[in-house]
Amino acid sequence: MRDKTVLITGSTDGVGREVAIELGKRGAKVLVHGRDTARAREVVAEIGRSGGLAEFYAADLSSLADVRGFAAVVADDHARLDILINNAGIGTRTGGPQRRASADGHELRFAVNYLAGFLLTRLLLPLLRSSAPARVVNVASAGQAPIDFDDVMLARSYDGAQAYMQSKLAQVMFTVDLAQELAGSGVTVNCLHPATYMATTMVREAGVSPTSTVEEGADAILNLAVSPDLEGRSGLYFNRKQQTRANAQAYDQAARQRLRELSLRLTGLHLEPPARP
Ligand SMILES: NC(=O)c1ccc[n+]([C@@H]2O[C@H](COP(=O)([O-])OP(=O)(O)OC[C@H]3O[C@@H](n4cnc5c(N)ncnc54)[C@H](OP(=O)(O)O)[C@@H]3O)[C@@H](O)[C@H]2O)c1
Repeated sequence: MRDKTVLITGSTDGVGREVAIELGKRGAKVLVHGRDTARAREVVAEIGRSGGLAEFYAADLSSLADVRGFAAVVADDHARLDILINNAGIGTRTGGPQRRASADGHELRFAVNYLAGFLLTRLLLPLLRSSAPARVVNVASAGQAPIDFDDVMLARSYDGAQAYMQSKLAQVMFTVDLAQELAGSGVTVNCLHPATYMATTMVREAGVSPTSTVEEGADAILNLAVSPDLEGRSGLYFNRKQQTRANAQAYDQAARQRLRELSLRLTGLHLEPPARP
């Protein structure tokens, strides 16, 4: 991993932290991201102790302005980006059982788990393209529910599990969609369910007893991020390390197009000239 630069969102805690530390040990330059400065400092220090190099970027993914600022600083600071892992996320009950909105007024789980990664990835695409071969890994989940395009923000009826599961399927749909767009560019995009109920903050908040370790989830994420077996393969969904089918809506081209158009509009990207290939 020498000379590789890797950005892992949500690497101040949970499985993202584990992935960051492991990639640091393997010699990558690791861009650690999250909100919690104290925990970020620990991750950066641990990577340093193992002889690796890490930098921390603070950004709140519940604000699209923060995502834009984050992408701009990363693109300014780094001449290349070899791997982007969109891992940051909130669970079914993070912040309580009631519906919550992001800084931009969008349903919070949709905003943090999906829309922020959509915007961040698209803003970093020029850097990823110029670093090709490069990889994007979206950490989704086996918990997937179809998006009801008549109530994407769940304003009519809210349920934390539905909110989480539709945000996770949105990540899978984005993966399939972007992989098609990037065909032949040398940038691949894949997604996965890392492991079931790992012992992390989000699982504790949901009141669930863990059944997997963060090491198991990290191993599955690292497989997509660095395994030579994945070279040139794109648009795929994995359950841990096993390629499999996601929810049917991920393979519905009309639904993917609807989600893409909505996401471009919500992030304001439809107003910008397309990034040069
Ligand atoms: N745990 C599981 O069993 C499981 C199963 C399937 C899929 N997943 C997926 O795996 C990923 C990681 O989950 P985890 O269990 O490791 O979670 P976690 O331990 O709760 O960690 C979540 C990470 O996301 C960051 N984050 C949360 N909200 C953020 C925001 N608004 N802005 C910026 N960063 C934010 C946190 O950073 P700060 O604390 O610094 O804000 C933290 O680093 C998620 O996408 C999750 O959906 C997990």
